[in-house]
Amino acid sequence: MFSGSNTIVLCFLSLLLLSPVAISQQCNPQDKKALLQIKKDLNNSTLLSSWDPHKGCCGWPMIVCDVTTNRVRWLVLQSPDVPDPRVVGHIPPSVGDLSSLERLEFQNFPKITGPIPSTIAKLKNLKYLTITGTNVYGPIPFFLSQLKNLESIDLSSNMLTGQIPSSLSQLPNINFLNLGNNKLTGAIPDSFGSFKKPSPEIYLYNNKLSGPIPTSLGQIDVERLDLSRNKLVGDASMLFGSNKRLQYLDLSRNLLSFDFSKVNFPKKSLAILNLNHNNIYGNIPVAITKVEDFREFNVSYNLLCGEIPQGGYLHTRFDVFSYYHNKCLCGSPLPKCK
Ligand SMILES: *[C@@H]1O[C@H](CO)[C@@H](O)[C@H](O)[C@H]1NC(C)=O
Ligand SMILES: *[C@@H]1O[C@H](CO)[C@@H](O)[C@H](O)[C@H]1NC(C)=O
Ligand SMILES: *[C@@H]1O[C@H](CO)[C@@H](O)[C@H](O)[C@H]1NC(C)=O
Repeated sequence: MFSGSNTIVLCFLSLLLLSPVAISQQCNPQDKKALLQIKKDLNNSTLLSSWDPHKGCCGWPMIVCDVTTNRVRWLVLQSPDVPDPRVVGHIPPSVGDLSSLERLEFQNFPKITGPIPSTIAKLKNLKYLTITGTNVYGPIPFFLSQLKNLESIDLSSNMLTGQIPSSLSQLPNINFLNLGNNKLTGAIPDSFGSFKKPSPEIYLYNNKLSGPIPTSLGQIDVERLDLSRNKLVGDASMLFGSNKRLQYLDLSRNLLSFDFSKVNFPKKSLAILNLNHNNIYGNIPVAITKVEDFREFNVSYNLLCGEIPQGGYLHTRFDVFSYYHNKCLCGSPLPKCK
């Protein structure tokens, strides 16, 4: 319940917010200049036709300003449901002139191409960078590691090439990194075993990453890790352990090869484990029956052998398709062991 005086204050505030006069006064002139340049650089896209130069930029769609300073804090250009072909061109270098920007987002614009502009290095307050569902190409720029306030980087589903800069993991506040669905090559950097935040989410799926998973990655306590659809080889057993907080692990469609018999599982947290299409050998350890909240488990298309452990939390939860196409795995739901 609002008290009477609060209601009056609220009414007054909403009048102030809705008043065209108030809006036209709200706008830092430098920010407005940068935004109009962005509009021009994007060929006056109809997406931005409501960015009326005669009105204050804090009232424009896709912009969020700070209420006290009127500086632009968010520039969020997105087309959440379907790809929007109306926005054509490169990411405008003038985004770098929005010096108070904390969130920059370009989402689902397939006709945006070109590299990630170096002017983004000027955005020292940036916390959230999202460029996804575009045709942006070129490398993941090294300068991102100079933006010490970054908490989240989502550069998924673009055409990015080259190696993953090892310095990304050294950002003091980073806890979300999605570089999935690009054309990245090389190895996962060793430094990825030393993220500064305790349980980062890391998504590197569907790239061309090769070599082994760095053993250092076993030292951090990732909650969600997706390395699927790459060309990773060798061991992945260091990612497991009964004391980890791991909830979601997808290593499917790689060339991983290790003895599954010796792996232990986080009993409480693990919900999704997808290992299909690798060269994993050995037995399925009995410890798997103690995982309480298993929702998805897939070890199909590997080289596993022996009897599938029965009972516990595993009981009747997964069907043939979780286990089929192994070397000599047997027992329910596969045919009986001989
Ligand atoms: C975009 O609009 C501005 C202002 O009306 C104009 O000066 C500029 O030439 C236009 N640019 C393009 C590429 O249409
Ligand atoms: C920019 O807009 C003009 C006028 O609508 C159009 O003719 C031109 O092809 C556009 N340029 C790009 C790169 O889309
Ligand atoms: C496990 O992965 C295989 C191979 O991709 C797939 O065919 C199967 O449907 C998956 N199983 C389940 C239960 O999703």
